[in-house]
Amino acid sequence: MNSPSNPRGTRIAHLGIAVRDLEAILPFYRDLLQLPEVPLDNADGARIAGVAAGESLVELLQAESDDSPIGKFVAKRGPGIHHICFAVDDLDATLHRCKAAGIRLIDETPRIGAEKKRIAFLHPSSTAGVLIELSEH
Ligand code: CO
Repeated sequence: MNSPSNPRGTRIAHLGIAVRDLEAILPFYRDLLQLPEVPLDNADGARIAGVAAGESLVELLQAESDDSPIGKFVAKRGPGIHHICFAVDDLDATLHRCKAAGIRLIDETPRIGAEKKRIAFLHPSSTAGVLIELSEH
């Protein structure tokens, strides 16, 4: 399914948007834009609500504490787009390629993310200021 012999190609899996108040903003995406809600696990000290936009998700991330990654992000920059997640055919190979090219990795080895898939983050200092998450399809 995920083998390079049956590649699906890299695609945007989800956008992570840092919010101050999930309940306040969720109706905009769910009811006004009419994106169906998708249940997601909370992760990295954030409560997460997901909505599906075709093949891609929008993840609304609300910090559970001020010292969580989202809490620090919102304190510094305010709410807004936090990260872009690309699903790739071969996560380990992509991570190795990035590392070999000198891209700074936040996660040296993949871990389990909010969608219960293996994920790894790349540092925005290596990617033109955009926090990039890589995941398996
Ligand atoms: Co994410």
